[in-house]
Amino acid sequence: MRIDKFLSNLKYGTRKEIKSLLKTHEVFINQNRVIDSSISIDPLTDIVYIDGVQVYYKEHIHLMVYKPIGYLSANHDTMHSVVTSLVKSPFDRFDFSIAGRLDLDAEGLLILTTDGSFAHQIMHPKKHIEKTYEVMLDKPFFHQNTLLKGIIVKDAYNDEYFAKALDIKKNKEYVTIIIDEGKFHQVKRMFQAVGYEVLRLKRTRIGNLELKDLKPGEYIEFERNDLE
Ligand code: URA
Repeated sequence: MRIDKFLSNLKYGTRKEIKSLLKTHEVFINQNRVIDSSISIDPLTDIVYIDGVQVYYKEHIHLMVYKPIGYLSANHDTMHSVVTSLVKSPFDRFDFSIAGRLDLDAEGLLILTTDGSFAHQIMHPKKHIEKTYEVMLDKPFFHQNTLLKGIIVKDAYNDEYFAKALDIKKNKEYVTIIIDEGKFHQVKRMFQAVGYEVLRLKRTRIGNLELKDLKPGEYIEFERNDLE
């Protein structure tokens, strides 16, 4: 990859700005100063320095983020804070896809990844990746058998589908539910279908990834094979 493309992908400026950066700053590839913006590097093996500071690079980055309530599962928005704004240096130079959104008023585990095909796979219904949600309802819950047997709910297009809980544990109005799909408002709609309102919703697990000690707004990196 050309050095100007490499640095511009990492948001150091446009190709034109990189050309002047190479003249006005000390940019090194390994031990060699670079002036020519068309020079090629291997991003995986060459190390690039700008004024003595190493440029952080990885082919792909996967983050487990604790989305706080009130953050939008999006990259940009004019009204609300977005989850990608929680990501700080050195990861903030990368573009992330969001795998499996959480509602604005929901919180918990969200996966951000620079690998779009990985994001797609995580969300694919055929993958049946389990997710655990802890919810607080408007009243004590008594319909676990109905949700375990399965019910008909509507998706984002108002098409009906069969939704089924894989496991349910409850303590009065506090319920932990496991499902292996992730359709639009699925958890809220499953509880609504049996007469309950979800007042709080927190996702605590996706596959083998668990929220554990993460606090709202925090994130940690994980490896692709940690998920399953
Ligand atoms: N189900 C919902 O209803 N909301 C979410 O944010 C996630 C799952």
